[in-house]
Amino acid sequence: MLSAEEEREAVSAIVARFPRERTWLLPVLWHVVEELGWLNKDRIAWVSESLNIPYAEIYGVASFYSLFRWEPTASPEVHICTDVICTLHSGDKLYEDLKWASGDGTFTAVSVTCLGRCDASPACLVNYSPVEKATTSAVLNRVRALTTQSANGGGDA
Ligand code: FES
Repeated sequence: MLSAEEEREAVSAIVARFPRERTWLLPVLWHVVEELGWLNKDRIAWVSESLNIPYAEIYGVASFYSLFRWEPTASPEVHICTDVICTLHSGDKLYEDLKWASGDGTFTAVSVTCLGRCDASPACLVNYSPVEKATTSAVLNRVRALTTQSANGGGDA
């Protein structure tokens, strides 16, 4: 676990890799999440200082996108679309089933808004890889494969 000062330095290092223009805000936030695990008030404040963009503006952008993490999560991470089209194709039931199955802490199930894959609803991402016309068993099989791969030293689950 990093100290607050180490986290601040890590955020500064991430920001330094990008042009200091507000159009790079989303890539900066994405890298903060990927490299430090999640967003929080301190990390947003440090991005705000570094990019000279108001905290409220950054918070507004970050909170708009449901794929940003705001707390530590178990990996693999499963994002299930529960927006209108996917709900019409049982995305809400898929989310409920996966949320229940994730109760043992072996993966994380997150409800998200439209993933832009309405044609393949219910749409779902497992570690950001799409599962089209997702079913509970298909998603759990993908999760198990990633978990086994990770346990065997085959990369991130
Ligand atoms: S509504 Fe689910 S992907 Fe668009």
